[in-house]
This record gives sequence, C-alpha cells and structure tokens, in this order.
Amino acid sequence: MLSAVVLLLALPFCTADSASSYAGSTLVDSYPPPGATNAPAVNAYFPDGSQVGYAGPTPTGAEPAAIITAIPFSKVENAYPLSRPHSADGANTNFNVMRQWGNLAPMYSVESFGLPDASPIIPEGCGLNAVHLLMRHGARYPTSDSGSSHFASKIHAAASKEGFSVTGDLKFLATWTYKLGAEILNALRPRLAVRLFSFTILPLTLPFISFSNGVAFRYRYGNLLNAFTDLPVFRTTSEDRMVDSALNFAAGFFDIRTYKTDYHQEIIIEGVNFNNTLSPNHVCPNSNTADIGKFGGTQANKWANIYLKDAQMRLQPMIQGFNLTISRLADMQTLCAYETVALGYSKFCNLFTEEEWEGYEYYVDLSFWYGHGPGNPTAAAQGLGYVQELVSRLTHTPINVWNSSTNSTLDSSNITFPLNQPIYVDASHDTVISNIVTALNFTSLAATGPLPTDHIPPRRSYIASQIAPFASQLVAQVLSCPASEEPTHIRFVLNDGVVPLTGIRGCTDDSNGLCALPSFISGMHERIGQIDYAHDCFAKYTIPKPDNIIDGRYPR
Ligand SMILES: *[C@@H]1O[C@H](CO)[C@@H](O)[C@H](O)[C@H]1NC(C)=O
Ligand SMILES: *[C@@H]1O[C@H](CO)[C@@H](O)[C@H](O)[C@H]1NC(C)=O
Ligand SMILES: *[C@@H]1O[C@H](CO)[C@@H](O)[C@H](O)[C@H]1NC(C)=O
Ligand SMILES: *[C@@H]1O[C@H](CO)[C@@H](O)[C@H](O)[C@H]1NC(C)=O
Ligand SMILES: *[C@@H]1O[C@H](CO)[C@@H](O)[C@H](O)[C@H]1NC(C)=O
Ligand SMILES: *[C@@H]1O[C@H](CO)[C@@H](O)[C@H](O)[C@H]1NC(C)=O
Repeated sequence: MLSAVVLLLALPFCTADSASSYAGSTLVDSYPPPGATNAPAVNAYFPDGSQVGYAGPTPTGAEPAAIITAIPFSKVENAYPLSRPHSADGANTNFNVMRQWGNLAPMYSVESFGLPDASPIIPEGCGLNAVHLLMRHGARYPTSDSGSSHFASKIHAAASKEGFSVTGDLKFLATWTYKLGAEILNALRPRLAVRLFSFTILPLTLPFISFSNGVAFRYRYGNLLNAFTDLPVFRTTSEDRMVDSALNFAAGFFDIRTYKTDYHQEIIIEGVNFNNTLSPNHVCPNSNTADIGKFGGTQANKWANIYLKDAQMRLQPMIQGFNLTISRLADMQTLCAYETVALGYSKFCNLFTEEEWEGYEYYVDLSFWYGHGPGNPTAAAQGLGYVQELVSRLTHTPINVWNSSTNSTLDSSNITFPLNQPIYVDASHDTVISNIVTALNFTSLAATGPLPTDHIPPRRSYIASQIAPFASQLVAQVLSCPASEEPTHIRFVLNDGVVPLTGIRGCTDDSNGLCALPSFISGMHERIGQIDYAHDCFAKYTIPKPDNIIDGRYPR
C-alpha cells in the first residue's frame, strides 16, 4: 500500500505499472522553486496577524498538568498524549468517548461515507494533478461566554452559599477550578511546532493539531510542490486561532526553519460586515438571528430534554444547593471534551454512560444539521462563496459577479487569489465546513433525511464528528484518468473518507467517488444558480418547518 503511494507521488502523471524505465533511477527535487519571489510569509500584501487586527478575544487558560491528575500516556489510537476518557458504565472497553464529541472530537479517519471500496489513495490508473485543502483549526478553548464558563461561575456562586454540598461522583466539584481560556488554540498552541519538532514520531500521532496535519499533508501531496513556479498562497482568517493554525500547518508542511519564507500566508479579515468566504456568517445576517441562527440549539435542546433525564435523576442527589438542569448537564459533557483536549484529562467524562455519550453525539449532530447544515435555510448561502472560488480555481477563470461572501478586492487579484496553483490550502471553521459541504450538494451526507429530535434514528448519514472535528480536512483531489497533464476528474475526501458525488447533477455512480470534471463544474454552476444568497441571508422570514429544509436553502 505504502509503496504504491510513494510511486504515484514520485511520478505524478504516470500509472504505477508503466514506470519501468524509471526503476532504480535517482530523483531529486528542490523547493522553493528557483527564481520564486522569496518574500517572507508576512509581508506588504500579506501582513502578519497583528497588522490585520480582528483577532477576536484571546483570554488564555491554565497550563495543563495531566501528569498529576491522570496517566497521560495511554497509547490508544488518536488519544495519545491525552488520557483516554471512559464512560460511567465502561462496560464496552472498545467504546471511544472521544468519538462522541461531535465538532469537539479530534479528527479521526472516516472509514466510509457509503463507498466501501474507495480509499484516499489515488485510484489505479489515475494521476494526481492538483489538490484543494479546506481545513479546520486545531483543538481550541470554548467560545467566550459559553456554557462551559457559565457552568463554572454558577457552581462557584453556589459553592459559596449555605447548603452547598457534593458527594459521590460529584465530590470532585468541591475543589474543581475552571482552567480554560476562550477562543484561542489551547495549551498546544504555537510553541507546539517548536516543542514537537524534536519528536519526529509524535506529530503524526496528534491528528487534532494543525502542525501534524501539515506534516501529514506533505507526506501525501508533497510532490505537487514541484509544479510551482512561484511561492504558494495559502489563506486563513484573522482570528487568533486561525492564524496560529495556518502557521502551525505551514511549519509542519514546509520546514520549521524556513517556512516563513517558503510561502505567502494570506490573512482575510474576519469581522462584522467583512466579506470572507472562510467566515461568511458576518455578512449573512439571518445566520445570526435568534430564530434562524439559533435553530440548531433549539432543536438540539429538545433532544437533550430526553437523553439527559436519567443522568439528571442519577446525579442530582449527589449535589445539594445547585440544580442540575438539563442544559447544565449538557454543559458538563461539553466540559469533558474541552478539558480533555486542553488539559489532557477531565473528571466530567465518566459521569455519563455510553448511552448518554451517544446521546451527546446526536445532540451535536442536531445542532450542526439545523444550525449549519442541510436543515438551516442560510447554510448553502454561506457556503456559496467558497464554491464560487473552487469553480474559479478549477476553471482558471476569475470570478466577475459579486453576489455572495466573496471579497472582490481580494478575489479579482491574481496575487491574493491565484488560479493556477497545484496546491491550495484554506483554513476555516467547523460551522463553515458544514456550510460548504451543504453548498457543494453532498447529498449523501443528507441521505437519511431531516434528523428527528425525539430519538436517534437507527441509521443516519450525518455525523458532525466526521464533518467538522478539530483539524477537519476536506480535500478535493483533481485527477487525470488515465494520468496526463490535463485533469479529467475530481473527487472529495473528507477526513480520509471518500464522498459519493452522485447527488450532484451530472456525476454518475463511481466506486472511487470520481466525477468527470466538466460534469462536476456544470453541476456546480447549476447549484450556484439555485442558491439565492440575497434572500436566504437577508430577507425577512421565519424558520420554515424543519422537515421542509433539506438542502440548506429556504424551501422554494
Ligand atoms: C475586502 O478585503 C480588503 C483587503 O483586506 C479589505 O480592505 C476590504 O475592507 C474588504 N471588503 C469587504 C467588504 O470585506
Ligand atoms: C432549584 O429549582 C427549584 C425549582 O425551580 C427552585 O425552587 C430552587 O430555588 C432552585 N435551587 C437553587 C439552588 O437554585
Ligand atoms: C460584499 O458582498 C456583498 C454581497 O454579496 C456585495 O454586494 C459586495 O460587492 C461585496 N463587497 C466586496 C468588496 O466584494
Ligand atoms: C496578474 O495580473 C496582472 C495584471 O492584471 C498581469 O499583468 C499578470 O501577468 C498576471 N500574472 C499572472 C501570473 O497571471
Ligand atoms: C442537489 O441535490 C438534490 C438532491 O440529490 C438534487 O435533486 C439536485 O438536482 C442537486 N442539484 C445539483 C445542482 O446538483
Ligand atoms: C450569482 O452569480 C452567479 C454567477 O457567478 C449566478 O449564476 C447566480 O445566479 C447569481 N445569483 C443570484 C441570486 O443572483
């Protein structure tokens, strides 16, 4: 398996079996390309984060000390160096609590989105021509003013009053302190790259960290660097964690000593009224209203009232002077996730049973489906700008209509929006990746239909931890089959799972998830024409019946 990858990467336009004339010959590549403008990653038109501003809030948290609270070196897949969390019943030792965390789960390789025979390895007979990566930042602290911090302040207030007491499994709350910051990448932030560099094995075992992803992406796609004639432009938004993640990725992808001069890092302003395809919600007002914007939370809360009832009955007797409401219980599950990724360990995890963790996973699925996915009428509109950019890059044709979150100043310049790169890397958010896969009409993810709020359906195609976990990666592979200079096909690999494209008009069934490039492009043109950005983002309307929103648009 490995040798096939190496061969394909070394000889991008040749199939494996036609390579005999190269056998045993020595290949040497050099990067950066000779004559490339060797500008620093942060320069006049790509200023550094502090010049761009709009970093958002940046409160830090406490240093982790997992060595005191837990055995930090459990070698469970995707857990190291975190301590593997357990459920309250813990009967099934294969049960992985971390996978139940939805968008707070560390990225894991998805086995299949419905194409059991497909693998992320380039199909036999095809060559790799280009790659478009859309990635999420790495493990972070909670949002400012979140349920996690509210839970802490409520407990703190209650604990200072007469009558507060904790026993049994909740006894730890008597001395528990809140150690999380907000918004920014957690303790494993920028110094990480430097810190990890001396452990060559470690980065690959930390898939929820952008540095590791940069290293892994170089292993997979490094040979495409040979096709650059100038330095690549990679894009991110201006929030602190976004800039850090982009730089961490670059440090892993290029060279820790030289990455600042190996490419250009473009930082697009993320803020109210700024057009930005990687953070479109600021120019889509309906996505921020209590009715439409909070619809995900509304739907998820209906389910929380059901799946957390048992936990409430079990745990409330262990705490006096504090009401364990359903929403506080959900906050406690969220704290398990955030504490584990920030501190290496959390005492909130094993308060909940496996069934309650499955309930939590579904709770996050509901909040993404109805908040940022097929069940929200602004989701496709928010993903539209990136789809227009993708089509522009695939066709090497500049965008000339500005009717979405695209920024005309940036996207009509071939400096800030080049159209001829063999590798594109864009950093974005969980919610935006969810918007974008909706705009791309990946209907296989929505195949099992609108999610019910009163039970977990036996089969479901939409699982947030597979779409938007920490350091999530959506990769468009542009291929030629048979291998040649001219690309003929495209396919999408979401966290290592190949996505079927049969929902897109013109794309036919293919066991490797391939769609002919011209068909995909005309399908996307049609989809772009279907999405009414002005209406879905700006018109005054109330949320339609949940069952009527099926592809992220206001029903027509
Ligand atoms: C577009 O981007 C430019 C460059 O960052 C910025 O100055 C301008 O304010 C942006 N416009 C909008 C509408 O976002
Ligand atoms: C818990 O809830 C009950 C019923 O709403 C209320 O009467 C009581 O004051 C609450 N206790 C605390 C500590 O908030
Ligand atoms: C920002 O987006 C709006 C809505 O699509 C558009 O009318 C405007 O021209 C865009 N501004 C820029 C600078 O691209
Ligand atoms: C970029 O655009 C400028 C002006 O439109 C043009 O002169 C230049 O050749 C373009 N560069 C590339 C690499 O396409
Ligand atoms: C999007 O998906 C729906 C459902 O599969 C399909 O009916 C529609 O034709 C698709 N639109 C495009 C442009 O592919
Ligand atoms: C937006 O522009 C595209 C062309 O890029 C066009 O196909 C689409 O119909 C436009 N949408 C609206 C709502 O005007």
